[in-house]
Amino acid sequence: MQKVEVKYTSSIDFPKLNYRTGGTGNALVLLHGFPQSGALWSQVWEGLSNRFRIIIPDLPGAGDSAFLSREMSMEQMADSVKLVLDTENITNAVFAGHSMGGYTALAFAELYPQAVKGLSMVHSVCDADSEEKKENRRKAISLIDKGGKEAFVKQMIPGLFCAGFKEKSKNVIENQIQEACKVPGDNLVAFYNAMINRPDRRKVLKGGHFPVQWIIGKEDSIASPEKVMNQSIVANVNFVNVYDACAHMSMLEQPVELVKDLTYFVKYCYKM
Ligand code: MLT
Repeated sequence: MQKVEVKYTSSIDFPKLNYRTGGTGNALVLLHGFPQSGALWSQVWEGLSNRFRIIIPDLPGAGDSAFLSREMSMEQMADSVKLVLDTENITNAVFAGHSMGGYTALAFAELYPQAVKGLSMVHSVCDADSEEKKENRRKAISLIDKGGKEAFVKQMIPGLFCAGFKEKSKNVIENQIQEACKVPGDNLVAFYNAMINRPDRRKVLKGGHFPVQWIIGKEDSIASPEKVMNQSIVANVNFVNVYDACAHMSMLEQPVELVKDLTYFVKYCYKM
């Protein structure tokens, strides 16, 4: 079993960036979604670090990485990932981005196309928020600012999981709620602002020289199967994996499948 080490780096722009790393060989970067941290990948990092060199950042304001400001941008989040890679002397990698982590990976691919060998969109989409979604996020920000952070978290987290998992794994969901409740309200707002302001990045995939994988949960109401299937023809080379009994959280709902499919895709990207 490969050891996963916790490290941190910093720069003028990023006072503290925490990340985990382990394994050897070709690099695979795992980017977490909202409102999680790098710990989200704990069920899959052993299986993946047996085959690849994995890098798992806590994005700014998540886990043990320092908060920047409420006006954080997706580009800043992408730059934080670049700093981690530079610290580790990694010039290129395959990226697996879960939901908001996928939006971050797309911003990264736009800024640093030569550093991307492949992109796995894990329950994620490449378009911008609809007006309705932006409005819902603004309402959530207002609720959080009025002291309703716990109510927001308790309402949102169960909706990330499929019905069967919700029934069987109440403790996992409770743990996710508790962890999310520890995140300060301003940090949650910063992520929502970054998501509201992100542009449509279809063109990053269209012009991209790298393959794209689309991991889809049949019961996902956030990155819905219909929407993601429509986007899964955008890149030049697309892999599609659809999971039964899964909503938005395959790294917890279907970790064995996810390790298998990510491994296949990463090997393809590196022509292994
Ligand atoms: C996530 O899982 O990162 C979020 O649900 C993404 C979003 O709200 O668009």
